[in-house]
Amino acid sequence: MVELSLTAAAAVPGRFTGDGVAVVIDVLRATTSLTVARAAGAGPITAAATPEQARALRERLPDALLCGERDGLRIPGFDLGNSPFEYGRDRVAGRALIFASTNGSQALQAAGAARRCWLAAFVNLAAVVEAVAGEPRVWVIASGKLGHFAIEDTACAGLLCRRLAERGATLQGAAARAAATLAVGDAAQVKSLVEGAPHARALRALGPEFARDVEFCAGLDVMDHAFTV
Ligand code: MLT
Repeated sequence: MVELSLTAAAAVPGRFTGDGVAVVIDVLRATTSLTVARAAGAGPITAAATPEQARALRERLPDALLCGERDGLRIPGFDLGNSPFEYGRDRVAGRALIFASTNGSQALQAAGAARRCWLAAFVNLAAVVEAVAGEPRVWVIASGKLGHFAIEDTACAGLLCRRLAERGATLQGAAARAAATLAVGDAAQVKSLVEGAPHARALRALGPEFARDVEFCAGLDVMDHAFTV
């Protein structure tokens, strides 16, 4: 059974315990970047709701890297921002991460009580489907933006729901069914949808390196691994 929360704000922490797994989606850019980080050998990821909380966590995890953004930019004093191109093996292999982004971190915290929490984005969607297809209960959380619906996150969640339904899963609730119905499926459609999203425009306005991030995040199934936090 698959359920979908359309925003991190709508994801009630602790609602999903016991035999269920969570899948968190923040296409632009948190779960794309964290998937790249884990593929580069990064260790466990601890989500922080605020920069202050992240700094306090670092007291307890002195070897962890402080990562995150506000308004898309690296938080002052942090080791890394939120660009997938910052999370190379040379920087993150073997390092735990404390991660404080605006929306993705909220969704990761909401999923905290689930048995496992998978990171999903368009770049590794097929691998996530493989990883959770056999699970009795899957709770998908589309991060959204500041409590509001984000087209790229819902479209990614919808494609995940549709692919799981094609594998026999039952979609529970209107959100999962609607998102699956509306989901776009081929790489060209995904690319234009993500690059046309309001948050993509906001990121491109920050500069060419952010435009490069958007282009990478708009790739479909370009990475063949799925990771938990
Ligand atoms: C977020 O978590 O809010 C986003 O990933 C922000 C960003 O694009 O850096």
